[in-house]
Amino acid sequence: MTVLLPRRQLLGAAASGAALMLNAAAQAAPPAAMRFAIGESDFLLDGQPLQIRCGEMHFARVPREYWRHRLQAIKAMGMNTVCAYLFWNYHEWREGQYQWDAQRDAVEFCKLAQAEGLWVILRPGPYACAEWEMGGLPWWLLKHPGDAFLRSRDDAFVQPVRRWMKEVGRVLAPMQVSQGGPILMVQVENEYGFLSDDKDYMRVMRQAVLDGGFDVPLFQCNPTNAVAKTHIPELFMVTNFGSDPATGFKALAALQKGPLMCGEYYSGWFDTWGAPHRRGDNARAVQDIDAMLNANGSFSLYMVHGGTTFGLWGGCDRPFRPDTTSYDYDAPIGEAGWVGDKFRTYRDCLAKHLKAGEVLPDPPARLPVMAIPAFTLGETAPVFANLPAQAIADTSPRNIEQYDISRGLVAYRTTLPAGPAARLEAANARDLAWVFVDGRMVGTMDTRHRRFSVDLPARKRDATVEILLYTIARVNFGMEVHDRKGLQGPVLLRTAKGKGKGNGKDKANNPAQELTDWEIRAIDFGADGDLPPLQWQSRRSTGPAFFRGGFEAPEPADTFLDMSAWGQGIVWINGRCLGRYWSIGPTQTMYLPGPWIKAGRNEVVVLDLTGPRAARIEGRTTPILDQLQPDRDLARPPSKARPRLAGLTPVHAGQFASGSATQDVRFSEPARGRQLCIEVLSTFDGKPDAAIAELALLDAQGKPFNQTTWTIAYASSEEARKEDGGALNAINGQATDYWHTAYSGTVKPSGPARLIIDLGASVDIAGLRYTPRQGPDGVTGRIRSYRVFVGDKLVDQD
Ligand code: GLA
Repeated sequence: MTVLLPRRQLLGAAASGAALMLNAAAQAAPPAAMRFAIGESDFLLDGQPLQIRCGEMHFARVPREYWRHRLQAIKAMGMNTVCAYLFWNYHEWREGQYQWDAQRDAVEFCKLAQAEGLWVILRPGPYACAEWEMGGLPWWLLKHPGDAFLRSRDDAFVQPVRRWMKEVGRVLAPMQVSQGGPILMVQVENEYGFLSDDKDYMRVMRQAVLDGGFDVPLFQCNPTNAVAKTHIPELFMVTNFGSDPATGFKALAALQKGPLMCGEYYSGWFDTWGAPHRRGDNARAVQDIDAMLNANGSFSLYMVHGGTTFGLWGGCDRPFRPDTTSYDYDAPIGEAGWVGDKFRTYRDCLAKHLKAGEVLPDPPARLPVMAIPAFTLGETAPVFANLPAQAIADTSPRNIEQYDISRGLVAYRTTLPAGPAARLEAANARDLAWVFVDGRMVGTMDTRHRRFSVDLPARKRDATVEILLYTIARVNFGMEVHDRKGLQGPVLLRTAKGKGKGNGKDKANNPAQELTDWEIRAIDFGADGDLPPLQWQSRRSTGPAFFRGGFEAPEPADTFLDMSAWGQGIVWINGRCLGRYWSIGPTQTMYLPGPWIKAGRNEVVVLDLTGPRAARIEGRTTPILDQLQPDRDLARPPSKARPRLAGLTPVHAGQFASGSATQDVRFSEPARGRQLCIEVLSTFDGKPDAAIAELALLDAQGKPFNQTTWTIAYASSEEARKEDGGALNAINGQATDYWHTAYSGTVKPSGPARLIIDLGASVDIAGLRYTPRQGPDGVTGRIRSYRVFVGDKLVDQD
């Protein structure tokens, strides 16, 4: 006979760190099979209407020992269902090798949810998004050479998907309500309307899930404005939004008969490194949820509990903005499982919508938290001295997937011939790279700024160039999921013609020599952040290194490691990869869950690529999620760019309409050039600040040019402290963010706001498409009058 532990006792056990995970299967007699169906206006469970109050939680982001604690909190908040993605790459990091044990035990998660009285909505992909490495797609798909085959009907994608869905079905089909489990329905793909309108692709994906053995209703989700795009009658549609449920539900009602459901209502938002911490608007959220429930609708709160993207699983927004390790999301159940005012606001709202007889349990008690006195990490293992002896030889470096390297640190070495000062240019370097000449660091390459070149000093004799590359995360959104990593050749050495500096000289007149015969050594961190064997020394070391130290814990409890004095890298605790840190913020602490700590001595290893200010860590009792330290970022070579517009005639001058709508502008005739400058002459609110959500350029047919390889040649200023006003935001295809001129510094920008875009090659530009900063009427930065210049060289670099 199995005895159910009272809740408090169970929590005590979890908090004491004993890896106590009750086998939920053993706790109750198998529940009966039920029939879940999509009716004309309701979800029906054995014929009875079921209004779904669902909250999203990803079991991969919560220590397994705490799954039950979080599920109890979700139930206590008023939910009757939990929604969970399966991240394909989490379960199949190496092709054909499936992992479902321990932290990856999806079946156990379903059983625990069921034991706590929660239904489950399963979202097995193949694509998830979710700020997860490559949106959940496995990196090995990128061994295939195509540029647009992921999430398409290309066999190179469909066949692996079919195998994955078979495996998902093998493991999880028995967890469906139709077989006595908690899974009510299964999502096919994820917001495909953001990417494409290929309905046949949705049919193929649906069939793959059916062939996996699922017989509960299947559905798809899309943002409200894309529900019609990928709709097929055989797949029920739900809509995702963070405001305006009335419009969302109207769009669904126009599309199909059936219950109304919001598949993702956002409680907050995710954070990316270097940008301010995001918060949700609780008052609005509960108002919207109330409205949805009053309209007999169902919803899923994304996220009810975000948790932590442990290990190296963090994703990256397009075009390249890596996500923080904390996935707190400003959700009502905080990263460490804490509940407070926000939770109560939601609970009070949901309590009004319970079914007759339904009673909300109390939330589980807060888990204990401890401080750890500062300890020093006195031993070091320099990265270069700890690379594997075995090297890959290649003429020119290719993306690491070609070498079967999944992610990690990759060092590239070759001979640099004697010669004058020159510029080293790679075709691509994803994600960050430090360039050393004879052991001295000379500069960095940085995907965030599409900077793949470094200035090299003159060499009297041949030297060795070594490039240390660090992969952060594969992009999880948009076409950029085709995110191949590594230093990618050809790697060119470009010297100035004749004497003088080589910077910024016209490439056509500037001879370049290809650097060949590379030796490539990698530390592949694999699925779980495996550490290589390391040779420790008790000296400090300069340059990229691993650091080792430890602390004593009287007994395990949650804590928050303060990494604010460090640079950038990864933390391991007792050999287990905790996650990435980057002291540019906004997260300065790392949530370290009690079950990962041992009573007694604990070992901490830190990889730091830029070097700590002090090699010390302390554990705090509260997190720091909202402090930027821009001064801790990689040195960005001061921009020498100056606009060169004097004497030029604008190709167009005009006035935009007020409001937030996107507007197309046609020039009187197409203008040929590689660069385009938009100069702001006045704004609608009369302030000097200017903002642009999106700027697309149009060809003679009025179609936008592909903008994915564009760079910013010049921005008069960018706000970096109060908000992320980076200029790349204006050309990243996302209207939710924007370029914003600087306003928080003591020195105010002078002169007109100007943005100069470099297209990489000369084209005929016939017009532009401007999307103003979104938001309410009167929002700062909307441009009234402006001028446009086009030319091959609107910027001076020297
Ligand atoms: C979309 C996706 C989710 C997640 C959110 C943002 O709605 O479907 O997976 O990425 O955006 O957090």
